Amino acid sequence: MQKILVARPMFAEVVERLKQYFEVDWNTGDVLGAEALTQRLADKDGALTAGDTVSAAMLAAAPRLRVVANMAVGYNNFDMDAFNAANVLATNTPDVLNESTADFGWALMMAAARRVTEAEHWLRAGQWQKWSYDGFLGADIHGSTLGVIGMGRIGQALARRARGFNMQVLYHNRSRVAPEIEAALDAQYVAKEELLRRADHVVLVLPYTQENHHAIGATELALMKPSATLTNIARGGIVDDAALADALQHKRIAAAGLDVFEGEPQLNPALLAQANVVLTPHIASATEATRRAMANLAADNLIAALGVGPNAGHPPNPVNPQVSGRPRR
Ligand code: GLV
Repeated sequence: MQKILVARPMFAEVVERLKQYFEVDWNTGDVLGAEALTQRLADKDGALTAGDTVSAAMLAAAPRLRVVANMAVGYNNFDMDAFNAANVLATNTPDVLNESTADFGWALMMAAARRVTEAEHWLRAGQWQKWSYDGFLGADIHGSTLGVIGMGRIGQALARRARGFNMQVLYHNRSRVAPEIEAALDAQYVAKEELLRRADHVVLVLPYTQENHHAIGATELALMKPSATLTNIARGGIVDDAALADALQHKRIAAAGLDVFEGEPQLNPALLAQANVVLTPHIASATEATRRAMANLAADNLIAALGVGPNAGHPPNPVNPQVSGRPRR
């Protein structure tokens, strides 16, 4: 029987499914550090990860490893050059999380614009003595201009929701989306700088790549309106968190909503010190139904990639399909 690692605590029924096909080594404890993950991968044919860093050294130390299935749409935790060089397949879990993640983008954006968590903290602290005409004044969502940076599947789901709020939609993306998508979303393609200048609410939904490192830093924040909000449901590292904390502190922008952070689960302490930022622990896809769907899709990928189950040999979401069928290097 082929051996796999499930690197993280996981829905038990998904692990049961995997046990029908594989000998399963299941880490039910803390996140494995690099050394422990290297050891646990060493004798495996496949692995199911969730954001765990998989490096060239780990692949080199695991000569049987043929596939790593990430339970996430983003896979910047994988060294893809090393995967390609070693002919190890990587898979991800796109699509099943689009709508839940877009919902959460709206939740964060609205909470930031309307100061929901800031007001709640104040209330819980027992500070509510009287109603006040100027208590927690925020910014409107309806009728405002939404700026979506990254118009992939989640960006499109996010933009689609803007219609109900009668918003103008601007977007920026590596490449323009098809005219029929632009028309359906009533979205206008603009340069990043123009989007930052014009949008009332900027939402980041782009993948993390080397080029996108600090795509939003002090220069970009300086272009935004002082009344604007910034929401990041994409990846830590796309925003320069220190520059953002500084902009929030000096009210160069009004507020931010952040689900992802540089170096998470550690946070830049300067962010924690600002009241005008809503902070959540990387939960944009975290609904019961969506996380189950992601876990099952990761399992489907692993099972199929290791040549068993109903779709043997045809994993639904290969990231680097070109390596399929090639001998391990
Ligand atoms: C979550 O961050 C994902 O990439 O799915």
